[in-house]
Amino acid sequence: MNRKDTYLWWQKEIIYQIYPRSFYDSSGNGTGDLNGILQKLDYLEELGVKGIWISPFFPSPMADFGYDVSDYTGIHPLIGNMDDFDRLLEGIHKRGMKMILDFVPNHSSDEHPWFQESKSSRDNPKRDWYVWKDPKPDGSEPNNWLSEFGGSAWTLDENTGQYYLHTYLDKQPDLNWRNPEVHEAMLNCMRFWLDKGVDGFRVDVMWQMIKDKQFRDNPPNPDYTEDMSPYDKLLPVYSSDQPEVHDVVREMRKLTDQYPETVLIGEIYLPIQDLVTYYGHDLQGAQLPFNFQLVELPWEARRIEAAINEYEASLPSEGWPNWVLGNHDKSRIASRVGPQQARIAAMLLLTLKGTPTMYYGDEIGMTDVHIPVEMANDPRETKVPGKGLGRDPERTPMQWDSSENAGFTNGKPWLPLMENYKKFNVASESKDQDSMLNFYRRLIKLRASEKALSVGDFYPVPAEGNVLAYRREGPKKAFLIILNLGDQKEQVDPELPQWKGTVRFSTHSEKEGKEIKGSLILQPDEGLLIELKQ
Ligand code: GLC
Repeated sequence: MNRKDTYLWWQKEIIYQIYPRSFYDSSGNGTGDLNGILQKLDYLEELGVKGIWISPFFPSPMADFGYDVSDYTGIHPLIGNMDDFDRLLEGIHKRGMKMILDFVPNHSSDEHPWFQESKSSRDNPKRDWYVWKDPKPDGSEPNNWLSEFGGSAWTLDENTGQYYLHTYLDKQPDLNWRNPEVHEAMLNCMRFWLDKGVDGFRVDVMWQMIKDKQFRDNPPNPDYTEDMSPYDKLLPVYSSDQPEVHDVVREMRKLTDQYPETVLIGEIYLPIQDLVTYYGHDLQGAQLPFNFQLVELPWEARRIEAAINEYEASLPSEGWPNWVLGNHDKSRIASRVGPQQARIAAMLLLTLKGTPTMYYGDEIGMTDVHIPVEMANDPRETKVPGKGLGRDPERTPMQWDSSENAGFTNGKPWLPLMENYKKFNVASESKDQDSMLNFYRRLIKLRASEKALSVGDFYPVPAEGNVLAYRREGPKKAFLIILNLGDQKEQVDPELPQWKGTVRFSTHSEKEGKEIKGSLILQPDEGLLIELKQ
């Protein structure tokens, strides 16, 4: 165990992501809002989460539901105003919790005044704030780069005769991070919120921020198959993860470091070896480059074990690990692995070494909600139809009680609710000892009370079949975690000589308090957290 015994909040505590449009609607317009979050802070406090990351609530035409920002220092009127924000921040801080904002530096909205100026003429002083290129001699796009939302990443502006780059929608032009004025302007936006007292940022698509200086064509992806997103036809070798991106991250970090105990989190979808470079030289990059392996990997013990080991081995020394189980871009965990395994997934998230990030609603077992095509909002569905890429299913309203619209709104919810919300909601589950919500609450409490679980060292324990096993060790206590990632019985013989211990927590609560040792039979979907006798 690391001798250091003072860990920072973002190392030992849990981060909880709120998608503000879907959390709680206090105004009755069908969309969640900042006042709604304020009203639900008691719930979050009782759950035991600390870092509240709120997806974008800034002014936005909502082409990408807030990830197209038209004013980085304002509040979208649908979601509230600056007074609401101030009250929310105060409420969060009063409870000893922290607020993490979502900062979207790769692109703004095309309706941002900066872009409006930039596109107004070739010699506008803000022309170079975005990425403009001449057409090829035949009039076609400057290179073959693709948009994540389908089609070319370039759109021609007829008026000035040049193309602008957009890694996402044409309504999300990429800012030019090679221009020092952009740095200054964007860092000032971060400073605005830091001065207000926010505790950190989750930086949107951090690995995409800078592009190849020569704008070389991306090579084809030899592994592409028709069922993949069209974006995957090419390998984004020249349009993402460029060496210069680390200078930008370092600058952001320099800024956040001026404000004590803040955290810089990077949204980064890259293989582990590349991901860990975002900790930066001398750990001067992101403190938490999001680790999405639990979101991406097939739910198989051996695959996950290999990934955990690779991750642990790749971390820079003193680089703090983190794990994410869900977010607003990915199918919900209960849909991916089923309701029983979702409990195993919770145990994994909350007992692995590193900061856990939870997605709102997973704690009550919310699943993806089928959204008929004609009701689709998300551009990933409307622009790339028929591939099942739409993200509306995992963004549906939080289920608070059994009343109409699950108590989310008095109006018409912006997305439909899960059909069985009468069973799966905060009020009903609070009364049921065996509910997912109480499972999470008990586990989070245990994690908070045992240093070995929140900040202790991690040791893999070899296991076979669909079983994952590991130890967590603190200065005084050690725990053995054994998880059955499948729906078959498994025999386990943890390679720990002469071990014995007491079950402190389990998916099968009748086992809690029992002494166990040696070789075990694990029931389907069973997870055990055992305090080892030392
Ligand atoms: C990030 C966000 C996603 C958004 C995209 C473009 O991946 O999580 O929701 O669509 O960036 O901003």
